[in-house]
Amino acid sequence: MKCTLTARPLDTQAQDALIVFVQNKKPLTGGSKALNSLIAERIKKTGFSGEALQTSVFPTFGIYAAKGGKTKADNIILAGLGKSSDLRIETLERSAAAAIRAGKKAGAKSFATATAAGISKLSEPAFVHAVARGGAWGSYDFSTFKTKTKKPATLSLSFAGECKNAAACRRALVEAQAESDALLSTADLANLPGNVATPQKIANWSAKMAKETGLTCSVLNKPDLKKKNCNALLAVAAGSDLDAKIITLKYKGTDPKAKPVVLVGKTITFDSGGISLKPGKGMGWMLYDKCGGMAVLTAMQMIARLKPKAPVIGILTVAENMPGGGATRPGDIIKSRSGKTIEILNTDAEGRLALCDALDLALTHKPAAIVDLATLTGAVIVALGQNGSAIVGNNSRLTQKLIKAGEAGGERLWELPIWDEHKEDMKGTFADLQNIGKSGTAGTITAGAFLNEFVPDNIPWAHIDIAGTAWVESPKPWMAPGATLFGARTLIEWIKGL
Ligand code: BES
Ligand code: ZN
Ligand code: ZN
Repeated sequence: MKCTLTARPLDTQAQDALIVFVQNKKPLTGGSKALNSLIAERIKKTGFSGEALQTSVFPTFGIYAAKGGKTKADNIILAGLGKSSDLRIETLERSAAAAIRAGKKAGAKSFATATAAGISKLSEPAFVHAVARGGAWGSYDFSTFKTKTKKPATLSLSFAGECKNAAACRRALVEAQAESDALLSTADLANLPGNVATPQKIANWSAKMAKETGLTCSVLNKPDLKKKNCNALLAVAAGSDLDAKIITLKYKGTDPKAKPVVLVGKTITFDSGGISLKPGKGMGWMLYDKCGGMAVLTAMQMIARLKPKAPVIGILTVAENMPGGGATRPGDIIKSRSGKTIEILNTDAEGRLALCDALDLALTHKPAAIVDLATLTGAVIVALGQNGSAIVGNNSRLTQKLIKAGEAGGERLWELPIWDEHKEDMKGTFADLQNIGKSGTAGTITAGAFLNEFVPDNIPWAHIDIAGTAWVESPKPWMAPGATLFGARTLIEWIKGL
């Protein structure tokens, strides 16, 4: 989606549709009397309550001109934001996405909205950023496999009205555009199924993206992984015909003395469970088990384009978890890259195995901090549902920063503890560790406690479990089913601030 700023007010715009956000039941038109009265009538007639994510599209039928308005727009889209006291960036992004989706369905290709809309407690640049990025996300459809679809039209969104700080608004638009490009292009990869998005395909995609954006990319293949003792990751791929890989993307940063931040993403191209085979119902969903890596790829692409100060390294730990003849058996003991031995009691708890070697590899970069993202446990959905991710870690400063970055990025994070009892739960009977807890409780935390064993206390580390948030299964007002790339927006907000 192409976004622009224009100083002229909303009621002079000639786009296909005007998006008017409604907050506290009041339409935010940027001060147009004619628009306000038309919308007030409409609200009265339809009972549109302006709840968050509610939309209403209605034609202007030229009535508008009779009221003294100048716009030629065919449609007005009302987009609810709920009450100002409840406003979050998440609501605004999703509401903008919902408005664009609703308008697109009605045939609109060009949109305008009021910049100086007077949304409470939000600066104009923050408004422009959230609406531009949310709008672009709302314009996205995954149509790669639909043989009969036409090439989707490019949409446009114009922000109308004088801004108090035009330079800051312009910067916000440039950022939103770069971030949207990263989100939409990675979504096309993240939504691919396991037969297409193989480890090799993801490696090729990463190398191409790195070349285009000025990152460096290196790939460890099976022989390299053997040499580097990544036996936990190799154990995950043992039952698959497709070889494991570790993909590393590097962004140099503008401060040559700074230590890098390392982002690690679980990238299981398909998780059948392995010998601990998952039940058939819903197994198709496990094509999404690469979404930690997809969020890291998205963030790296954003970083390459926005050039923040801090050096950043992205690591994707890639494998397919299958029950083939060479598969790892429950009970097998392996020695991870770190030297710690692991009893693999459940081959479906593979994400932590893929991650523990990648975390150990991350340490070789002498990182300032490590953040990993993973669709790691079904338990996180039991705990939090599908609208927020759990975060655990070894450094409360880092955790709090990421939670704050999540608020700014429109992603909800909720902290869970790691207590000594949780660590105890992961100690093995015959090996140092086992890959599932003895108690069978606190699944998300014990997975975190396992990962914690691979990071020394003096390196700030956080783990974000995105199993509930990485994918949308049924259509939502703000997006069609598919990958959400949850985590990328939090990471970029955090890194921009470093
Ligand atoms: N990729 C899954 C996590 C998952 C499970 C996401 C169910 C969504 C729904 C992960 O690899 C996994 O299978 N985890 C197991 C761990 C268990 C065996 C300790 C789980 O959560 O069931
Ligand atoms: Zn699994
Ligand atoms: Zn998995």
